[in-house]
Amino acid sequence: MNDFIFKENELYCEDVPVKEIAASAGTPFYLYSLATLKRHFNVFDESSKVLNSLVCYSVKANSNIAILNFLFKMGWGADIVSGGELFRAIKAGVDTGKVVYSGVGKTEAEIEYAIKSDILMFNAESLPEVFLIDKVAGRLNTKARISFRINPNVDPKTHPYISTGLKKNKFGISIKHAISAYETARELKNIDVIGLDCHIGSQLTEISPFKDAVEIIKELLDRITAKGFDIKYLDLGGGLGITYENEMPPHPSTYMNSIKNILKNYGGKVIFEPGRLIAGNSGIFVAKVTYVKDTGSKNFIITDGGMNDLIRPALYEAYHEIVPVIKKEGHKIKADIVGPICESADFFGKDRVLNSVSEGDLIAVFSAGAYGFSMSSNYNSRPRAAEVLVDKDKFYIIRNRETYADLIDKEIIPERS
Ligand code: LLP
Repeated sequence: MNDFIFKENELYCEDVPVKEIAASAGTPFYLYSLATLKRHFNVFDESSKVLNSLVCYSVKANSNIAILNFLFKMGWGADIVSGGELFRAIKAGVDTGKVVYSGVGKTEAEIEYAIKSDILMFNAESLPEVFLIDKVAGRLNTKARISFRINPNVDPKTHPYISTGLKKNKFGISIKHAISAYETARELKNIDVIGLDCHIGSQLTEISPFKDAVEIIKELLDRITAKGFDIKYLDLGGGLGITYENEMPPHPSTYMNSIKNILKNYGGKVIFEPGRLIAGNSGIFVAKVTYVKDTGSKNFIITDGGMNDLIRPALYEAYHEIVPVIKKEGHKIKADIVGPICESADFFGKDRVLNSVSEGDLIAVFSAGAYGFSMSSNYNSRPRAAEVLVDKDKFYIIRNRETYADLIDKEIIPERS
């Protein structure tokens, strides 16, 4: 089921023709469906209820404050990885008592901001980090709640750039060092150890790596508990994959049910940090065809969107389905769909066969709601795209297109003698 659907030969988002939004907002733009977002929210929320759980949406996937605001109003918390994400989450109305803070490089200023905001806990990734949290908490005359992120050394069988739970990755601390890390942290005056955390990677399409990780973590949890720690929160991270092409990722309820048994004698709260699963298929990216170019050896459909807008194909050779917004009769064309940027990695799709496409036509890049806009940049001095949210028959600009003036807003030509 999808809210990006063709009616006759024209793509709609819910009840709004995509063409109409393009006419009003200009191109390129990201387009999100609130109905899809709600559905994803409901499926995950319902599924997670088989456990005593708290869902902390992973802000990095799509951090527009309109999207965050919707999820927080429905009762979810946030998984953040920077002071900037904390700021966004607060502006979007998060209950900071439901914020967990992951990431290997939290700075002193970020730690201070998070402690002052009274977040639920830091998912600490090293002892030096815990020493710094302790120092800052002491200075603020308070105690900071932490968990340790454990690296279970499990292969998530996903793209190497988004694997995080292997021992060669920079994330977390090893099982071998876990107990001594917990014991060291327990001695610190301004630290309250309340959790155990793990996140093994993203876009997982199989259950088995999750199960393996949870089994390893549960075994560690039992050992830590036996040492007298009260682990109130077990954070299992995010990572459930979505369908981009023909992947068949497990349904959230299959996932939850498969780990329920492993955790049956755990009395604390289980935290989940889904990102992609919620936002990915709730959004598309829409661009306009500037030129159709035949080099003699290949066709290129050149659009006004580029890798600065959606970098996933360039970075991970990720597949995204691409369709013309209006399906036209006429002969099909096989082409690379590319952007205007001066890099050969600037493509959305290669050797795709599309219905007849000509200059001025709109194309839609699917499954772009997660790690789309949030990874965009101004490379080649391109103002970032607009973001639009559809709710039934209405649409709302939730981020204005950047202007040329925005590009140089923070820059200064020094006055020199
Ligand atoms: N929790 C932690 C600690 C994470 O590092 C991540 C993602 C998540 C939760 C959310 O994972 P998800 O449910 O979205 O899989 N830019 C890449 C994905 C990087 C994911 C980074 N961490 C992409 O476009 O595929």
